[in-house]
Amino acid sequence: MKKITTREELIKLYLDFFKSKDHKIIPSSSLIPSNDPTVLFTTAGMHPLVPYLIGQKHPLGKRLANVQKCIRTGDIDEVGDEIHHTFFEMLGNWSLGDYWKKEAIKYSFEFLTKNLEIPKKEISITCFKGDKNAQQDNESSKIWEKLGIEKSKIKFLGKENNWWGPAGKIGPCGPDTEMFINDVEIWNDVFMQYNKNIDGKYEELKQKNVDTGMGVERTLAIINGFKDNYLTTTWQPIIKQIEKISKRKYNEHKKEMRIIADHLKAATFILAENIEPKNVEQGYVLRRLIRRAIRYGKLIMIQNNFTNEIAQIVIEMYPDYKELKQNKDFILREIEKEENRFREGLTSGLKYFNKISKGKKNLSGKDAFLLFQSYGFPIEITEELAKEIKIKIDMKGYEKEASKHQELSRTASAGKFKSGLADNSERTTQLHTATHLLNEALKHVLKDENIKQRGSNITPERLRFDFNFSRKLTEEEIQKIEDLVNAKIQQGLEVKREETSLKKAIDSGAQAEFGAKYPEKVSVYSIGEFSKEICTGPHVKNTKEIGHFKITKEESSSAGVRRIKATID
Ligand code: ALA
Repeated sequence: MKKITTREELIKLYLDFFKSKDHKIIPSSSLIPSNDPTVLFTTAGMHPLVPYLIGQKHPLGKRLANVQKCIRTGDIDEVGDEIHHTFFEMLGNWSLGDYWKKEAIKYSFEFLTKNLEIPKKEISITCFKGDKNAQQDNESSKIWEKLGIEKSKIKFLGKENNWWGPAGKIGPCGPDTEMFINDVEIWNDVFMQYNKNIDGKYEELKQKNVDTGMGVERTLAIINGFKDNYLTTTWQPIIKQIEKISKRKYNEHKKEMRIIADHLKAATFILAENIEPKNVEQGYVLRRLIRRAIRYGKLIMIQNNFTNEIAQIVIEMYPDYKELKQNKDFILREIEKEENRFREGLTSGLKYFNKISKGKKNLSGKDAFLLFQSYGFPIEITEELAKEIKIKIDMKGYEKEASKHQELSRTASAGKFKSGLADNSERTTQLHTATHLLNEALKHVLKDENIKQRGSNITPERLRFDFNFSRKLTEEEIQKIEDLVNAKIQQGLEVKREETSLKKAIDSGAQAEFGAKYPEKVSVYSIGEFSKEICTGPHVKNTKEIGHFKITKEESSSAGVRRIKATID
């Protein structure tokens, strides 16, 4: 086989070949499909060409070829083995109502045997065996035989194997013929002569098209004799960096490192499209990819932020995709931000998961949602965790919770905590109000009006509160603080919210977090006459709802800053 080790060499060889066959080279399109609302990402080279496959004239003519960046989200769970990737590059050539099976197959055969120098005897073929929509594809098999492929090497298979498309829910599709080298698929020639319509019916297309697809990563693996795609140059720089960061060997942690490499490469390309991590659509896929990569990073003992470093490697590896370099700052900033957000809840979220799943057969929908809401675990990560210890999640219950919450967030005026993760669960709401009581109780007991909040973080299990104070608290002081908070809870103080300008709030004596930036208009929460703070909430209506308050830890956070952890029971 030809000695080719880099993607650049392979891409050039392919595009030059099709140029010599009168094809025009078109650029790689965006990963976000502009003319197919039924899918989130561009899944194949033909995807951006759909309008031309169903009849519109392409300005560059009827013969096209390119290399297209693609993302297949259906493969996320498969990633970890030797051949699956979320992001990959696809080489393709198209005939838009021009050549048909004979030429298409001849081109494929010629490129494989002459340009890639793959011995004919190593090639095997599958063709479509026919069903009620289309007949058996004897035409293709005859062409292969004529080219010298032995009959015994040609198999006929059904729609599950030898039919491709549509890329989304509707659109052009048809039977295909696939080429295999030592049982690994290298190339797919699709004969697009049908259009699947919204009713699920196959209409014959006026124009007969050829659509082909050859994966860059897989082809490189095949011609280099690798069973594992991740050993090719399209992955090695990333794998090497992961080995360096984790101080672990790929050979001992293949699955984890493949997942990290794949997910962060895909994430980098999605970010390059100006997509931010979010809880919907492309942004959610991006979030899942980044967070799952971080979780696998944790499994191989990566303690610190690392996604940014991997993204930098990806940007360097693909200089021909200009959008990576152009959006470098955005990519690096957003990936780092997302990592920080997720890391904040990761360790405690895993602890929480272990606690609630211990000795159980099922995980409630409420708990699964809480893991998402309070700790930032996408449901797919919780599902994976559950699968690992063979417990089931009540998905119906989860969806019910999730939709309830969507209702909530639509109506909530301010959805987010001023610190920590957005969460409106009952316990975190109680802990949030308890935090205000604690803030005030500290000033009273320690007799220091200058005490200010320096940070706060709330999970359903505990609150964490940082404040400026120069020494360790005594046991007696801690007891007094606890008692004062509990006394205020017992008094059943009303919690009131009012909206006012920032200036008025400060003038009225409302507490503000040290160094925090507030908008012009703020909400102020008062708890009876005891406490008044600028905050976005949410809070309980009456302190009686809180229950019993208990300080579990008092420690140093940094120079001049103390940290209290407390819980309610
Ligand atoms: N569109 C075809 C595929 O993705 C070529 O395999």
